Amino acid sequence: MHARAAALALAALVALPACAQAPAKAAPAASAAVDDALYRALGGQAGLVALMDDFVPRLVADPKIGHFFAKTDLANFKDMLVQQVCVVSGGGCTYRGANMKLAHEEHDIRMADFNRLVEDLQVSMEARGIPFATQNQLLARLAPMHRDIVNTH
Ligand code: HEM
Repeated sequence: MHARAAALALAALVALPACAQAPAKAAPAASAAVDDALYRALGGQAGLVALMDDFVPRLVADPKIGHFFAKTDLANFKDMLVQQVCVVSGGGCTYRGANMKLAHEEHDIRMADFNRLVEDLQVSMEARGIPFATQNQLLARLAPMHRDIVNTH
């Protein structure tokens, strides 16, 4: 599937009301532990570092959105991305970076820019041999972040 089509399909998925995804019965207490299946599917810490080693240079070289990162400390940015994706994938890390709204508010970021970053991330996941279903699971967890990141039309 084309990257953008996949992203749009995911946006629709994420837009489902919570009740449509909720289990019919209350989950047993044992399953309250963090589900790290996605984190493991992404290759754990080493997998995330390798993914971001591919993604950050790809993003910075992107003719459409690379300019946003002209003044960014890329080593720190990569570390923060690893931490954050660890958190959202259930790896049990602590994210020590800036709040998403504050980190992005000084840049004028459009939905098209957000979608482009998602496409670059998909290309990196593909390059790393991450299965399509795993790619989609991560994108589904990142998609709602656009509310804090996209700040202009
Ligand atoms: C799901 C999508 C995104 C995620 C998970 C994400 C995550 C992050 C993280 C973790 C940081 C580091 C915060 C810190 O320095 O403590 C950051 C910074 C930054 N992000 Fe994003 N971001 C996303 C989308 C975007 C988009 C679409 C753009 C623009 C096209 C963008 C531009 C930037 C820039 C320029 C910085 C660096 C700010 C600086 O230099 O201080 N981000 N982002």
